[in-house]
Amino acid sequence: MRYAQLGDVPAKRHVQFRQNGTLLTEEVIGFEGFSGNESILYHLWSPCRVREVGDFQPILRDEWIPETHVHRLTDTNPVERGGDWLTGRRLLQFNNDIEVSICKPTDDREGFYRNGEGDEVLFIHHGTGTVETIFGDVAYRPHDYVVIPRGTTYRVRMDDSEQAWLCFHTPGEIETPNRYRNRYGQLLEHAPYSQRDFHPPTELHTHSDRGDFELTVRVRDGYQKYLLDYHPFDVVGWDGYVYPYTFNTDDFEPITGRIHMPPPVHQTFQGQNFVICSFCPRELDYDPQAIALPYHHSNVQSEEAIYYVDGQFGSRKGVDIGMITLHPSGLPHGPQPGLVEASLGAKRTEELAVMWDTFKPLKLTALARDLDQPEYALSWYEPEGAEVGTTTTG
Ligand SMILES: [Fe+2]
Repeated sequence: MRYAQLGDVPAKRHVQFRQNGTLLTEEVIGFEGFSGNESILYHLWSPCRVREVGDFQPILRDEWIPETHVHRLTDTNPVERGGDWLTGRRLLQFNNDIEVSICKPTDDREGFYRNGEGDEVLFIHHGTGTVETIFGDVAYRPHDYVVIPRGTTYRVRMDDSEQAWLCFHTPGEIETPNRYRNRYGQLLEHAPYSQRDFHPPTELHTHSDRGDFELTVRVRDGYQKYLLDYHPFDVVGWDGYVYPYTFNTDDFEPITGRIHMPPPVHQTFQGQNFVICSFCPRELDYDPQAIALPYHHSNVQSEEAIYYVDGQFGSRKGVDIGMITLHPSGLPHGPQPGLVEASLGAKRTEELAVMWDTFKPLKLTALARDLDQPEYALSWYEPEGAEVGTTTTG
């Protein structure tokens, strides 16, 4: 991330900084002790100040252990709208590196939230709104990745009730891939995006209100509630390299080739033992002999999950918008019978999909069981003459 600043900060770190005569409280939010990226925030109140300590609620995961190991298709369309932007997240897949939830929130939540043990990414499939944070407001729109580093106190103001998000939590860090950056951290010319495509908070609203404000902090695999006597958005200014931001897939510049390019060209973020990739509308491979569809491949060391967002891939047998394919480790996968032949000569794809490849096996939840489409495992078994279509995602 690049250096950003919003509001008022003093010329030097760690010196007296006052507003209306009151000495402000300086807080460093930093990663890797004092060796990673950090931001410095200036508060009206001590960020340690709590009036009451509330309940601690452990996170319970209702795991489904399937009886068979097969390719899976999870249809999130039947998931009903409801809940708020925090409790409405419904877990589908998880391991020690990542949690993936679907969220279709309709309800406001007055309290504030902070993830104290992981970075979050909200991929906005549908809906607009604002993530109000201690660093300022981050507006979101469809096809935004909203990246929220741990330590960010926030709440969400939704503009409509048609929201649908794919939510990621990781105890690791969400970063741009190392290979996209030079030794100073600047994005390289061959990266599929530039610093200009990443949008930090734009407006900082400093609240000096007093009253009852509930804060929920995710820590130690649970949710700890606190009651504050001040509005937690009490920051008058901050600067640094840690802050929430958006990146929209419309700004992803696809890397295409004469013959098929591998999935890493679609990589958008790297995490702890996983990657997040964006398959965006693009020109297809342009050699007359090229096969635009991925070759069969065995994920010998990774799980490959894809959420289908938009476009014309729906002709992949039985796969439609809002569905997730999971091609687990240990099994080869590739286009279904006839798809390659049908794809030859195609010049362009309008598909949009989000992929997360994890290097450790994913566990599934009871919700994933309820949404499971078991016939997908047999979709490579095709009687002669059946109609098929194309998709070009992995
Ligand atoms: Fe694949």
